[in-house]
Amino acid sequence: MLQIAGSGTLKIAAEAKAMKSKGIEVIDLSVGEPDFPTPANIKEAAKRAIEDNFTKYTANEGIPDLKSAIIHKFCKDNGVEYAQDEVIVSSGAKNCLYNLFVAMIDKGDEVIIPAPYWVSYPEQVKLAQGIPVIIQTKEENGFCITPAELESVITSNTKALILNNPCNPTGATYTREQLRELAEIAVAKGIYLIADEIYEKLVYDGFRFCSVAALSDEIKQLAIIVNGVSKSYSMTGWRIGYAAGPRDIISAMAKVQSHNTSNACSISQMASLEAIRGTQTEVFNMVAEFQNRRNYILSRVRSIPDISCLEPKGAFYLFPNFSAYYGMQYEGMQILSSSDLCYYLLKYARVAVVSGSAFGADNFIRLSYATSIQNIEEGMNRIVEAMQKLES
Ligand SMILES: Cc1ncc(COP(=O)(O)O)c(C=O)c1O
Repeated sequence: MLQIAGSGTLKIAAEAKAMKSKGIEVIDLSVGEPDFPTPANIKEAAKRAIEDNFTKYTANEGIPDLKSAIIHKFCKDNGVEYAQDEVIVSSGAKNCLYNLFVAMIDKGDEVIIPAPYWVSYPEQVKLAQGIPVIIQTKEENGFCITPAELESVITSNTKALILNNPCNPTGATYTREQLRELAEIAVAKGIYLIADEIYEKLVYDGFRFCSVAALSDEIKQLAIIVNGVSKSYSMTGWRIGYAAGPRDIISAMAKVQSHNTSNACSISQMASLEAIRGTQTEVFNMVAEFQNRRNYILSRVRSIPDISCLEPKGAFYLFPNFSAYYGMQYEGMQILSSSDLCYYLLKYARVAVVSGSAFGADNFIRLSYATSIQNIEEGMNRIVEAMQKLES
């Protein structure tokens, strides 16, 4: 356990909360969840489930109706076909990934993880006794790994490649062609593709999302798709995620699940059934609002001198490069790293952001725009002012 780090994103959110509880007014741009309420039709479905006493253990891998709705979603949205025994429902996408790593990884297996990465990937791989192999993607490549970069880290111990598309923390997205090039390497080398597509629906500027499983049958045989309702339907607290993939892997994940959580919450499964099968109007409304906020916060960040920032096409984060300010100081507080910068911004600007080091990229910080435009405006005013105070 000494080799496993706690979640860096949860840590800063807890500190911001502690400051708020002391009456300090903190603008929180560290959040990893939509600020919208869960849509009313979904909440109603959960209430109905309670009234109907749908409150007992369910099938280990998820209720058949929800799995059917997920199968229909894959077919309609992604053009991919799955059978009931190729799908599992778990207590969040995080839980799906954990079950997957425990089921798939033998001691010493290597899992390739492009950095910047979502904080839990390397730690979960380590918890399953695997070895995370980090590839640093480049800002100038839009934080996407290239085929040459992928090939350079594959060894005879490589078990899988994780692709998070759209990506937390960068908002980077892969086009169908980029995905195909990487997936074909995986097929040639017999490596599994773990595709975390949880931000699939949160895409902007007309970006057309493509699931890696849709590329070809050969690729689908090696792909495990992880998705969930947390981000698309503002349902982070309901804890429902799902995975689809080859039936031997899914049944191994079900075995793992049968000995830890048993099944995902029965009421949340009913709510998720409504989320996936019911009207999608609220998803479109949320995406339209996120698009406005992304445009606004990006223009503010790009107006700070010496900052570079990718225009993200997905998720709800910006990942600007602040390294030009490293080495500067204010009132004796010197900024030498992304975590120094986070503490500086928390202390002097009263704005919570997440340090890039939590995602394996110390030149950057993560700003979330899953908060109101008023908060974003005030938060950016404070950040701009704090950056102006820094001196060489
Ligand atoms: C890339 C990514 N994958 C998975 C998750 C976990 O989602 P869930 O709430 O379904 O466990 C998150 C949540 O922050 C995420 O950003």
